[in-house]
Amino acid sequence: MPKQSQRDLTEVLLSSQKLYKPSKEIIKEANVRDYDKILKQAARDPEKFWAEAALDLHWFKPWTKILDKSKKPFYKWFTGAKCNLAYNALDRHIGTDIEKKTAIIWEDETGKTRKYTYLELYQEVNKLVNGLRGIGVKKGDRVAVYMPNIPEIAMAMLACAKIGAMHSVVYAGFSATALADRINDAKAKVLFTADGSFRRGKVINLKDIADDAVKQCKSIKKVIVVKNNNEKINFNPKLETWYDDFVKGQSMEAKCAQMDSEDPAFVLYTSGTTSKPKGVVHVHGGYPVGVLRTIKWVFDLKGDEIFWCTADPGWITGHSYIIYGPLLAGVTTLMYEGMPDIPQPDRIWQVVEKYKVNVLYTAPTLIRAMMKYGPEWPAKHAMPSLKILGSVGEPINPEAWKWYYKYVGKNRCPVMDTWWQTETGSHMITPLPCAPLKAGSACKPFPGIIADVVDKKGKKAPTGKGGYLVIKNQWPSMIRTIFNNPERFIKTYWKEIKGVYFTGDIAFKDKDGYYWIQGRSDDVLKIAGHRLGTAEVESAFVSHKAVVEAGVIGVPDPVKGEVIKAFVILKQGITASDELKQELKTHVRTTLGPVAVIKDIAFVEKLPKTRSGKIMRRVLKAQELGLPLGDTSSLV
Ligand code: WTA
Repeated sequence: MPKQSQRDLTEVLLSSQKLYKPSKEIIKEANVRDYDKILKQAARDPEKFWAEAALDLHWFKPWTKILDKSKKPFYKWFTGAKCNLAYNALDRHIGTDIEKKTAIIWEDETGKTRKYTYLELYQEVNKLVNGLRGIGVKKGDRVAVYMPNIPEIAMAMLACAKIGAMHSVVYAGFSATALADRINDAKAKVLFTADGSFRRGKVINLKDIADDAVKQCKSIKKVIVVKNNNEKINFNPKLETWYDDFVKGQSMEAKCAQMDSEDPAFVLYTSGTTSKPKGVVHVHGGYPVGVLRTIKWVFDLKGDEIFWCTADPGWITGHSYIIYGPLLAGVTTLMYEGMPDIPQPDRIWQVVEKYKVNVLYTAPTLIRAMMKYGPEWPAKHAMPSLKILGSVGEPINPEAWKWYYKYVGKNRCPVMDTWWQTETGSHMITPLPCAPLKAGSACKPFPGIIADVVDKKGKKAPTGKGGYLVIKNQWPSMIRTIFNNPERFIKTYWKEIKGVYFTGDIAFKDKDGYYWIQGRSDDVLKIAGHRLGTAEVESAFVSHKAVVEAGVIGVPDPVKGEVIKAFVILKQGITASDELKQELKTHVRTTLGPVAVIKDIAFVEKLPKTRSGKIMRRVLKAQELGLPLGDTSSLV
């Protein structure tokens, strides 16, 4: 059976009793009004459901087959069709009323702002497309993107997609080594970066990190640098160019590449159970179908919304719900570069009020951080514009859910707790605004998705009993492969339990069929909603000269959800000390980036291992948290 539940089960059980019913106004307005009916309808023929959803997009040439299972698990959707992700997100709106609408509002921590209409964004993207084509970027090439949350990151992604080159966005909180590993795996030709970014009132010099990475990457032929905050940087004119110079004088029109629906649109690296991150591949055809249908239904978009997703474009949430989703839906996306509590804890609410945000989509860790500051901070701001609230990235505890509902949504905005993954591309288990909600539950599978909770053999788990969360059918925005590693794709997702997609999460279903996601069953951590592999962190420890071996676990944290505790064996002759602890923490942080915050280190003589020499993190965790040890038959 899966590992111990990380949730307080009593809290969950109490919470599962109460239903939060949608108000009459919400139902009256909703794109979908009858929850049970839509679930039943879609379940009868999911392929038909998705094919109808696909008609919301533009296809240069229609498909001949909706779903091709002949080479499973390499499923193909909308085969024979021609399309383009960027065309659907942008070009399609030009010449319609949408072109005059604001596509992007950007604001940074210091209060600087910029806005782009759809037409302006289209023109900026075209200039970039022409610039990139001018340096030889073509269909199938890879382009790395290491940038802050600024409009140019959207432009870079859209320009790549329009050419048919794959973007590989690397979160700007990753280190030079992490960036270099990802560039090298994808063999990216071009790197987009910026001079710097604001975080907590401090400037992070991204360009220095990018420089360190590029030294280790032979494939990079050009580095394009956005002047974001006038940082003093080293500049090598042979390799580098300023973004503004790069697009200067370029034509504002550019041809869009007509792609096969199954052509890859981008790769996004995510952590798995080994120290090497996986390049998750998404495609031009199916990906936008899932993203558009979910954003429209889950957040009830009509077309004139201001949509604010507080994630970073460097994660899948940013790809799907800061950049592509809002643009596919023709609404306004708000990009905020900075922290939500700088300079004051109400910064986030102030931005909601200032821009009359209609949909706020954020993470439980942020909600819990705001809870600590207290409800007086959201109370300072009238936020009548808010219509729907969203949560993503990790399980939301009922207490945080209720706080969000009461103090942010003022008891009138439904909270959509959306469960999904980098691999799924778009929401999988989530309510719709018309659904009765339970505080802390992600509700039921989205229409057209068939999920279940099962044991290792694939047998249905009894109601209320934890098991492995699996997806039993296929969906358009699903991962197509792991870049350069199809074997790992098969092994990770399709071999664990026969015939289904293995999510790696554990969950249970209650008597009403509501899903309660409990966390990962594997060695993937969720630190403040950011995905990190224990193996990656361990290998960062071992790369320090004082360390022989390390075992890393996640321990519960009231704000971050989980934080890292490491058990470290030192080389002979090296003395344990607080200074060394600090040095190791800094070492891991510089190796992996600021995402890898180590809460605590314990120096140990031995690590619990299986007979085959694998570290039993489960045992470390049970000891740390005082939980039962469980099955220890394989422990040496
Ligand atoms: C976790 C983020 C509970 C889960 C979109 C999943 C969640 C992993 C939720 C994917 C949620 C995401 N409730 N857990 N609403 N959303 N997760 O790839 O463990 O960064 O497998 O994608 O986050 O993380 P990823």
